[in-house]
Amino acid sequence: MSEQIKGGTHQPIEHESAHKHVSGRAEYLDDMIEPAGTLHAYLGLSTCARGKILAMDLDAVRHAHGVVDVLTGADIPGENDVSPTGLHDEPVFAKGEVHFYGQPLFAVVAKTRDQARRAAHLAKIDYAGEAPFLDVKSALANGGELVTKPLRLKRGEPAPALEKAPMRIKGEMEIGGQDHFYLEGHIAMAVPGEDDDVTVFSSTQHPTEIQHMVGHVLGVSANAVNVHVRRMGGGFGGKETQGSLFAAVVAVAAKKLGVAVKIRPDRDDDMVATGKRHDFVASYDVGFDADGKILAVDAEFAARCGFSADLSGPVTDRALFHADNCYFIPEVELRSKPLKTNTVSNTAFRGFGGPQGMLGGERMIEEIAYALGKDPLEVRRANFYGGEGKNLTPYHQVVKDSIIERIVDELEESADYQDRREAVLEFNKTSRILKRGIALTPVKFGISFTATWYNQAGALLHVYSDGSMQINHGGTEMGQGLYTKIAQVVADEFQVDIANIKVTATRTDKIPNTSATAASSGTDLNGMAAADAAQQIKGKLVAFATEKYGVGPAEARFINNHLHLGEHKIPFADLVKDAYMNRVQLSATGFYKTPDIHWDRDSGKGTPFYYFSYGAAVSEVVIDTLTGEYFVERVDILHDVGRSINEAIDKGQVEGAFVQGMGWLTTEELWWLKDGQLKTHAPSTYKIPVASDRPRQFNVNLVNWSENTAQTIRRSKAVGEPPLMLAISVLEALSMAVASVADYKTCPRLDSPATPERILMAVQRLKGN
Ligand code: MTE
Ligand code: HPA
Ligand code: MOS
Repeated sequence: MSEQIKGGTHQPIEHESAHKHVSGRAEYLDDMIEPAGTLHAYLGLSTCARGKILAMDLDAVRHAHGVVDVLTGADIPGENDVSPTGLHDEPVFAKGEVHFYGQPLFAVVAKTRDQARRAAHLAKIDYAGEAPFLDVKSALANGGELVTKPLRLKRGEPAPALEKAPMRIKGEMEIGGQDHFYLEGHIAMAVPGEDDDVTVFSSTQHPTEIQHMVGHVLGVSANAVNVHVRRMGGGFGGKETQGSLFAAVVAVAAKKLGVAVKIRPDRDDDMVATGKRHDFVASYDVGFDADGKILAVDAEFAARCGFSADLSGPVTDRALFHADNCYFIPEVELRSKPLKTNTVSNTAFRGFGGPQGMLGGERMIEEIAYALGKDPLEVRRANFYGGEGKNLTPYHQVVKDSIIERIVDELEESADYQDRREAVLEFNKTSRILKRGIALTPVKFGISFTATWYNQAGALLHVYSDGSMQINHGGTEMGQGLYTKIAQVVADEFQVDIANIKVTATRTDKIPNTSATAASSGTDLNGMAAADAAQQIKGKLVAFATEKYGVGPAEARFINNHLHLGEHKIPFADLVKDAYMNRVQLSATGFYKTPDIHWDRDSGKGTPFYYFSYGAAVSEVVIDTLTGEYFVERVDILHDVGRSINEAIDKGQVEGAFVQGMGWLTTEELWWLKDGQLKTHAPSTYKIPVASDRPRQFNVNLVNWSENTAQTIRRSKAVGEPPLMLAISVLEALSMAVASVADYKTCPRLDSPATPERILMAVQRLKGN
């Protein structure tokens, strides 16, 4: 018999729901059996981006077929607000004025979803509209009102260093936003209970926040609200705060009408009415020497935040935290500008501002390389963090764990970068229409919530008397495999097969005060809490058994579904049964908080991250200079996840994140009309990557020698977000292909997304026509 249990840590087992995902049997919220008499809500949205509401005539809505009720701000018993920041700037239903095209004004409740949806369009609203400020440039031109306090990071004296620098480039880059395009859109259902109780089912990454928001809107305490989420069909950050609106609407309706109420906007309304990745304008001033060494940087990152703060503060902070990427900048000042605009309030999206900051930083590297006529990889290497005097970030955290040089060296070799770059240069000399490009870019991503108190987690473990277990924890499952990894941790602690362990739906009545499942830290935090709970129960079992068998605890070992006690080998289920009969407590709560981190935003100094995750990618592309069309021919990735808890899941995360990043930087373009209407609100006009867009050759490898130097669960590293930024290599390879039409003399300053149109325009600009 093998000594290895089935499904412990470091085993590449399948996702706990994989078979259900592919056979359609995984239960999403909309698949749940509805309580008898469930009604359906639908939102009525503003058709004006900025102005006063003069009159709202909802008579036709009220009298439409099947309609039971219409809810406006007047129906909200508590506060008409779901702002996650405490700034009270995000009404559930607009309060007399509107701030973006698509803002919710009212909700209609009907017997069927179709009836509610049709009725919602019958409203007659009169507005006194004003010209909206839609983007960064128009917001800046109109006074640059901010939604939240900006951040400044400063080290040294960049101004004089820039003056003295042998070479200096100033530039600007526009960095596009992105829609989350989760397969399951936003959805919520509320079931009223007795007194002020309500149970809310929500597709959310943050059950605790839903609990509090529903409580505020209903005017009841948190203990009256239970939130329940088994799984999401993707969140990607879009469900960190944005589910509150939907949960609040159904909770108000359910308590008012005394029946269950469900809401599921269609894809178009989901895209119009919920926030996206922030687009940025990065402006930089970089000084460097003839070797390509950066001497000083002064940069500003201005973001379109939309009408309210939402998470724009921490998102724009994280942009600054990642503008350095893997590079030491001797003298530096970075500023954020979280701008208010008359658009939907932008929110968390995989990377949380980090990708935008990093892209700006990488553009500076490209600028330097083209100015000096060097391979950008040479410039990257010249600036890597490392050693005394070269290891301090702009936020004064010391980089102690950099393995980027080794990763880049290995990838350069395994991807045959140098020879392929030569071949690309050769090809471009003779190919008239098609041009190739290749780029190797690194990633360093800081792990921990910058909101330090968020770095805590709880778990609740029940061992039943038959030896089976339920583990519950504060994290949510959105497809990323968190439940699988947590079950692996528990299996590993007890050394029992994973088949004995069920991870149950995330619920606020099981684990209180949870953090959003975000910042890639779901496994880091909840894995440790689950291990803590398991260790407590193991301790009790060992104490019981050692006393019973008269053996010292030093001889107790959990091995292969048994407890070994000297001579004795007790099957785990027998041990548990025996412990139960002897009144041993078989349930425990676990807790974890990340050690050693602190952050002082006012001074811009601290150690906000417990550690960094690293990775690198080489992408090769070919463009058609007559049409701007392109293909990604080959991608090689080497990514660091420490000691992987599950290589199969981690590889899936790396592949998925890369492709999502590629979509962000190439084809996913958001487009608003001048009146503030989002025109790209369906897959017909908003182009996410499809199977045929995948790299034609896609070699994804995990670093097999890395072990987290920080004491994380089984020395693993967070994986969810960092690999998204590997896709920067695609944009830079496209840049190189474009640059070839003017003999690589200038950096093409390609904005993102680099759609075929943008590629074509950049080619024509460089050719001078
Ligand atoms: N993977 C899938 N399949 N679906 C998702 O929605 N979200 C990403 C990432 N990977 C996501 C995903 C984001 S934005 C984050 S922060 C992490 O997963 C969150 O989960 P984790 O902390 O457990 O990695
Ligand atoms: N990352 C993701 N989500 C967050 C963060 C963060 O740093 N802070 C607050 N929510
Ligand atoms: Mo991820 S953007 O932190 O939900």
